[in-house]
Amino acid sequence: MFPKISTFKSFQISHCLILLLFLNTIHHSNSQPPTNGYTCTTTTNTSNNIYPCQTYVLYRPKPPEYLDLASIADLFNVSRLSISKPSNISNPSFSLLPDQPLFIPITCGCNPVRNQTLKSLSFARMTYTFKPDDTFYFVSTHVYGNLTTYESVEVVNPELDVLNLQIGSDAYFPIFCKCPNKTQLGNNVTCLVSYVFQPDDTLDSIAELFKVTKQSIADVNANNLGAFDTVFVPVSKLVTLHQPPGVNQTNAGGSNSTNNQTTAMNGNSDDHKKAVVGLGVGLGVSVLLLVLVSGLLIYREIEYRKKLKERELEVISRPENGGMGDQRRIIKQLEQNLLLADVSDTLDKYKIYEIDELRKATGGFGHKFLIQGSVYKGCIDGKDFAIKKMKWNAYEELKILQKVNHGNLVRLEGFSIDPEDASCYLVYEYIENGSLNSWLHENKRKLNWKARLRISIDVANGLQYIHEHTRPQVVHKDIKSSNILLDSNMRAKIANFGLARSGCNAITMHIVGTQGYIAPEYLTDGVVSPKMDVFSFGVILLELLSGREVIDEEGKVLWVSAHEIWECSDEGEKARKLMEWIDKFLQKESCSVDALTNIMTVAVACVNKDPSKRPSMVDVVYALCKSDDLFCDISGNEFSSSPITAR
Ligand SMILES: *[C@@H]1O[C@H](CO)[C@@H](O)[C@H](O)[C@H]1NC(C)=O
Ligand SMILES: *[C@@H]1O[C@H](CO)[C@@H](O)[C@H](O)[C@H]1NC(C)=O
Ligand SMILES: *[C@@H]1O[C@H](CO)[C@@H](O)[C@H](O)[C@H]1NC(C)=O
Ligand SMILES: *[C@@H]1O[C@H](CO)[C@@H](O)[C@H](O)[C@H]1NC(C)=O
Ligand SMILES: *[C@@H]1O[C@H](CO)[C@@H](O)[C@H](O)[C@H]1NC(C)=O
Ligand SMILES: *[C@@H]1O[C@H](CO)[C@@H](O)[C@H](O)[C@H]1NC(C)=O
Ligand SMILES: *[C@@H]1O[C@H](CO)[C@@H](O)[C@H](O)[C@H]1NC(C)=O
Ligand SMILES: *[C@@H]1O[C@H](CO)[C@@H](O)[C@H](O)[C@H]1NC(C)=O
Ligand SMILES: *[C@@H]1O[C@H](CO)[C@@H](O)[C@H](O)[C@H]1NC(C)=O
Ligand SMILES: *[C@@H]1O[C@H](CO)[C@@H](O)[C@H](O)[C@H]1NC(C)=O
Repeated sequence: MFPKISTFKSFQISHCLILLLFLNTIHHSNSQPPTNGYTCTTTTNTSNNIYPCQTYVLYRPKPPEYLDLASIADLFNVSRLSISKPSNISNPSFSLLPDQPLFIPITCGCNPVRNQTLKSLSFARMTYTFKPDDTFYFVSTHVYGNLTTYESVEVVNPELDVLNLQIGSDAYFPIFCKCPNKTQLGNNVTCLVSYVFQPDDTLDSIAELFKVTKQSIADVNANNLGAFDTVFVPVSKLVTLHQPPGVNQTNAGGSNSTNNQTTAMNGNSDDHKKAVVGLGVGLGVSVLLLVLVSGLLIYREIEYRKKLKERELEVISRPENGGMGDQRRIIKQLEQNLLLADVSDTLDKYKIYEIDELRKATGGFGHKFLIQGSVYKGCIDGKDFAIKKMKWNAYEELKILQKVNHGNLVRLEGFSIDPEDASCYLVYEYIENGSLNSWLHENKRKLNWKARLRISIDVANGLQYIHEHTRPQVVHKDIKSSNILLDSNMRAKIANFGLARSGCNAITMHIVGTQGYIAPEYLTDGVVSPKMDVFSFGVILLELLSGREVIDEEGKVLWVSAHEIWECSDEGEKARKLMEWIDKFLQKESCSVDALTNIMTVAVACVNKDPSKRPSMVDVVYALCKSDDLFCDISGNEFSSSPITAR
């Protein structure tokens, strides 16, 4: 997990200072690797150009989020296979070990930069979408493992304001690379692998790793290579990496503790460090308590503002540089949110916890209690809760959570503010059985057909509720199987309203959500409407039917495959194809073909590319309930037979 924001920032600041000192002392030495990027030239005679070329970077997976091929493949916009093949990884769905070396293919180009003094730079252009707490520095050094520098990121993104990076907005990250020139090509060099010099590396160790001569590396690179500089290694053929034995997916994603309360609270990434749903204990709260609590809150706010002032001063008195602006931005945001958030509105709905109470419940937010990301499991008065640490950007979410209350939405019980480090903690009901995603794709125990149908109806009901019974309407925007939690009765609850928005048919410029679930119209035009949830719900139905991942190893999207199966007109043929495609486990269960066909028809209608042709959640609930297998008792909890079966 990441260090706390405050420690991380100071860590980063000290690094920047060290870096500056370092640069100042050795600036006169001209064979230093350039921090802004590697210049290149192109000529007008295109047949003389060596750019663009295909090359590779040697990348080392970074815990916690980049420990599986899927997320690394997304990061570099390539397929999983294109990494696993050159990297000698036998099973692409195994999770990776931190720092396990991988070859990732990139396309190296010579790109003009707007700043004329720098001419053109050679790099592979990666598009990265900012998540909370990201900075140019953090993404270059941690996410991309120093394959670029924050200075270069600034140079290629002249239009971005480093001091004010918007979460959800994109930036280009220039991954350093070079193409072999004519002489090198003549020497049988097929590519120059970008490699980050590790602190314990020597030229010899790199030569040994790539099975090349030390001299050939020295010829291509600057003399003063230091730790974390990019080294270009000329190779005629990629070496075969010796990989540690694979680790099964059950623990993929870097969480090594029980995968129980799921990724859902946190999404798979920090992107979704947001809220979940519910109404608090509200009604029972007496007027007296209300007054007490408001008093406490006002007191805290005053204290907190004092702190803010101090911090602001602290920040202003420091010199400006790359990583610094972010801290300022966060503080500005915090203050704005405090001004905006009319917390009194929510007081009667939620319990306000003492921060010490939460500390005690979670062993001081100890590692042992960490579920995933920034979500901890805590026991308060003998009852389990999921406690999520957030910035004060919780306001949007709280606004929505206030309005909804439904059995199929995860309930928010209360919150707490920690004036010490300006964070907010949201306390949710604890859902025992983890996410649907882990049940479908990681668990050995499989859900039977009846359980799957029940789950689909639960989710449909939850969505129908937020679409039809809230004013203004709420759109969840991030429906996916890891945001569906299963309770002890295997009943489904929708979690993570972090991206949810009220008010519809808006157009948004910041595309958020999860690949494979995002509706096409949202991706292309940014149109937000309940129909985008319908689409994602359709994808969940397809997952339940097929037991397949929404994007497979070859990058094929599940909803596209579903359309392919359903596009032939012959009913018998359709049914045959469907039976081939569905989860092997369901085949064994000999479900009725009619029932499966019914659900598939609903699913395919939901994932129609044209939003106006998709059914509404009301239609969906109706259609699902009509399915022969289940009598629709939405209120009931009982299960006649066990919903799960061991394989
Ligand atoms: C471009 O370069 C190639 C190879 O160097 C040469 O054969 C060709 O004549 C050049 N074309 C022009 C238009 O200069
Ligand atoms: C990812 O790569 C594909 C081509 O392989 C390209 O069309 C697409 O624009 C790329 N996406 C991003 C975000 O760069
Ligand atoms: C171009 O970049 C250099 C180095 O980052 C900087 O010193 C210079 O001011 C920039 N010029 C323009 C026109 O932005
Ligand atoms: C990248 O470089 C910085 C120093 O410039 C170092 O602190 C950091 O650990 C490096 N990151 C990785 C992933 O090696
Ligand atoms: C390049 O490869 C060819 C064939 O493999 C070989 O004959 C030639 O000697 C090699 N050239 C150099 C400079 O290594
Ligand atoms: C190719 O690159 C090498 C190493 O940087 C250099 O020594 C050589 O002169 C270059 N050859 C050409 C034709 O540019
Ligand atoms: C691939 O990695 C495995 C595991 O380390 C190793 O046993 C095997 O020899 C490697 N493959 C090749 C072709 O070297
Ligand atoms: C991975 O799972 C398979 C079967 O699911 C099992 O045979 C294998 O031993 C497991 N490997 C590891 C490393 O856990
Ligand atoms: C799992 O995490 C614990 C700390 O909670 C650590 O001691 C242990 O080494 C980790 N196990 C693996 C396999 O990473
Ligand atoms: C989740 O954890 C609880 C105890 O905290 C345990 O009883 C339950 O079996 C676990 N569920 C799964 C799916 O591992």
